[in-house]
Amino acid sequence: MKHLLEIDDLSAEELGKILELARREPDPNDLPLAGQGVACYFAKQSARTRNSTEMAVVQLGGHPVYITDAEVSLGARESVSDVTHTLACYHRMICARVYGHAVLEEMASVDVVPIVNLLSDAGHPLQAIADVLTIIGEFGTIEGRVVSYVGDANNVTRSLALAVGRLGGEMRVISPAQYRFSDVDADRIAAAGVEIQWSDRAEELLPGSDVIYTDTWVSMGEEDIREAKLRQFEGFQVTADVLALAPEAIFMHCLPAHRGEEVADDVLDGPNSRIWVQAANRLRSARGVLRFLASHPNNVGWSPLS
Ligand code: CP
Ligand code: NVA
Repeated sequence: MKHLLEIDDLSAEELGKILELARREPDPNDLPLAGQGVACYFAKQSARTRNSTEMAVVQLGGHPVYITDAEVSLGARESVSDVTHTLACYHRMICARVYGHAVLEEMASVDVVPIVNLLSDAGHPLQAIADVLTIIGEFGTIEGRVVSYVGDANNVTRSLALAVGRLGGEMRVISPAQYRFSDVDADRIAAAGVEIQWSDRAEELLPGSDVIYTDTWVSMGEEDIREAKLRQFEGFQVTADVLALAPEAIFMHCLPAHRGEEVADDVLDGPNSRIWVQAANRLRSARGVLRFLASHPNNVGWSPLS
């Protein structure tokens, strides 16, 4: 089966195909999910991802079923493998937002239905696809463009770096030294042929940037270390002064924003901000990914009855 757990599951060609599908408007004559379900499991909260994924399923002719641990208690009431098999009896795909990325890997290893990562502690590929759509929409290409991420090198950063790098862009990250990628993530990114320039000083890397991107300093699941992280990220807020280091750059944020923490209000709401273009592109991203996976030759349906 072809799954999408992280951007490097896709070749540059496959990523390009998804971007092309994402740009297509919904077509009532092209409904690859007609009569089929897509299970949308969420272990964490979501506004953009749930709504964009469910609406993408609808636009492709299918029926999304929203599932939380209130129904399935994944891994507690029933094993991950048994829930995956069960959902595969009724659904064409499983899209899942989880804490540990290993849960997605376990679902994918069952290999009875395509699995789509709707955010794990490791990556957020559908966000990265919306982000590159946004950057290409702005500049016409990513090739040669400089994307600078300021803040916590997290799940959003990893997928963004892989997508930008895959498409020939340059990725820079400004973060406190202890919040850079783990060796495992750094190796994975290097294996994908992506180079990252790192610094803890915005003035060193931001000049010449086309995009300045940030995300929360405290991701879902990290609430217990919130106070420590807020202290360690002091001085990393994207303010108007930081934006002035690359005055032509657009500002991006996957949202939800924590106004007054990683970013100042006047940056989020200012003329350089493209946050609502990004949010709108989440629907296109989900449509492109689901369309791609629905027609992938490896993704023939599994049924215990056949
Ligand atoms: N950007 C994003 O994934 O937002 P949600 O957490 O609201 O889905
Ligand atoms: N890094 C954030 C992204 C939310 C969309 C988190 O994991 O909570």
